[in-house]
Amino acid sequence: MSILFTHIKELLQTRPKSELKVVGNAMKDLPHIKNAFLRIQGDTIVDFGPMHDLVVQETDEVIDVTGKIILPSWCDSHSHVVYAGDRSQEFVDRLNGLTYEEIAAKGGGILNSVQVLQDTSKETLFEQSVERVNTLIQLGTGALEIKSGYGLSTEAELKMLRVIKAIKEISPLKIKATFLGAHAIPKKYKRDKQAYLDLIINTMLPEIHAQKLADFVDVFCEKGYFSLEDTEQVLEAATLYGLVPKLHVNQFNAFGGIALGVKHKALSVDHLEVLNEDDIQVLKGADTIAVALPGCSFFLGIPYTPARRLIDTGLALALASDYNPGSAPSGNMNLTVSLACIKMNMSPEEAINAATLNGAYAMDISEHYGSIATGKKANLIITKNLTSYRQIPYHFGNNPIHKVMLNGVFVA
Ligand code: NIG
Ligand code: FE
Repeated sequence: MSILFTHIKELLQTRPKSELKVVGNAMKDLPHIKNAFLRIQGDTIVDFGPMHDLVVQETDEVIDVTGKIILPSWCDSHSHVVYAGDRSQEFVDRLNGLTYEEIAAKGGGILNSVQVLQDTSKETLFEQSVERVNTLIQLGTGALEIKSGYGLSTEAELKMLRVIKAIKEISPLKIKATFLGAHAIPKKYKRDKQAYLDLIINTMLPEIHAQKLADFVDVFCEKGYFSLEDTEQVLEAATLYGLVPKLHVNQFNAFGGIALGVKHKALSVDHLEVLNEDDIQVLKGADTIAVALPGCSFFLGIPYTPARRLIDTGLALALASDYNPGSAPSGNMNLTVSLACIKMNMSPEEAINAATLNGAYAMDISEHYGSIATGKKANLIITKNLTSYRQIPYHFGNNPIHKVMLNGVFVA
């Protein structure tokens, strides 16, 4: 099946296939072609350019998209979209004055979701999660990383990872799975954290490896959760099983998590709401990409990742939703892009680069996703009539999307 889009008002993020991320000042530039065409063959982009260069060729379907913008679908590199139930009661508790950390200290927070997930069957967990994933597709997400981390027992962590695998099998989304067994210390191990780390290292990791259930490993490296030493134990063991780290670091405290991630060749370090100068220096020259999660800062009322400092110092930045029931109960990447502009002073060009190609880099899939290049997957957002791509972040909270194509097929 071949499809030709014609009269595209702006075709965004057109780059050579070999360009795998956008760094520092270069993020200010969002390459695009005005009045463009785009040709798809099967699930792949095969040609594009300005309309005046279009060569007539036999095509199964021609779609005139006058007035509309086409861009690569969002690449959301950090989510916890597989979870059970919700935490709207804690949301109200926070509105009444409790902090996220106080709720967690009382046994709520992540451990609340753990209890519910352990009591939920695999089938129900799958149903609840697929519904969320389908909403994300409508909102333009084409690639998604999903973490475990609400199981915290061997059985429940495996249940989560199997649900992620099952979603991968039925969904048109490109999905990457991350093992986040070290997300919180389960109640049972409250007084013996090392015993829980041993369970992760000696039981969970070998089983996950044997069943090929994860691509990446993550640890919540934070005061009251996992220290640098704890994190290092998990990373050393996981690396032996070929799992590349993607870390939760510097959400509330800065104490060297980023340097540890870089040392262990982490693909990404995520959150970074609290950053000191050493953290920034250590990222210079590293392949590890910084990931900001503005939806979490918005929802919890905590500081935003200092995007200007990171980008102006020459670093690459990706944007992700952090979709989860506690700190970011929305996976809407259109809103993430808006928040990045409004609250982090990123330009629309920087935010779109961060949510497409750099997001793909943070999942190690930017060879095939995240930009418009011949040979890349036809994962596209076709917008409603817009005057320019600047209207995507400008109309915050609105849905700018007319249609979504994944793997060359219209899915929304
Ligand atoms: O990325 N900070 C740790 N993990 C999640 C929140 C998990 C939760 O509250 O359920 C996050 O913000
Ligand atoms: Fe997270």
